[in-house]
Amino acid sequence: MLVASIHRDHRNISRLLKLLGNKLTALQDEKAVNYNLIRDTVAYLQEHAEKYHHPKEDLIYHYYLERYPDADSVARLDQEHHDLAELTAEFANTVDMILMDAVVPQDLFAEKLNRFISSQKSHLELEERSVLPVLEHTLTTEDWAYLQSQWESEESDPLFGEQVADRFKELAAAL
Ligand SMILES: [Fe+2]
Ligand SMILES: [Fe+2]
Repeated sequence: MLVASIHRDHRNISRLLKLLGNKLTALQDEKAVNYNLIRDTVAYLQEHAEKYHHPKEDLIYHYYLERYPDADSVARLDQEHHDLAELTAEFANTVDMILMDAVVPQDLFAEKLNRFISSQKSHLELEERSVLPVLEHTLTTEDWAYLQSQWESEESDPLFGEQVADRFKELAAAL
């Protein structure tokens, strides 16, 4: 079920944000942090969330907006997906620089990490609290059946799926 898979993705993304939150606390306490795990988390969000999760949502949001064009909170999401992708790419660059031994002041990095976590979180909360409940209330069984028929790529999830990809094994173990 399409909407169920969106909620599931959100639960998974929440787990990742929680892990990042723990890293932020460690940084603020001046403890050592495994940057590989931060990189893997961001890589998962780029490879999976941006390629499958957001397009799945966009399909539903666009369909909804064709029928209920005055739904502001839904209309905002296009822009949010775009902004989130940019922020994620920028944050990924910073993490890569650190992994390549570039000097990035710890407090600057903590600030970026904090901003990254809160942007991801507020987007997720907007969808869970304001958008999905409206959609679920309004769209009919026929709408969902139609949307499901338009969504063919149910991909295998490299981190939360049955088969964890090698490059995400360390992250899976840390979760
Ligand atoms: Fe979204
Ligand atoms: Fe989402």
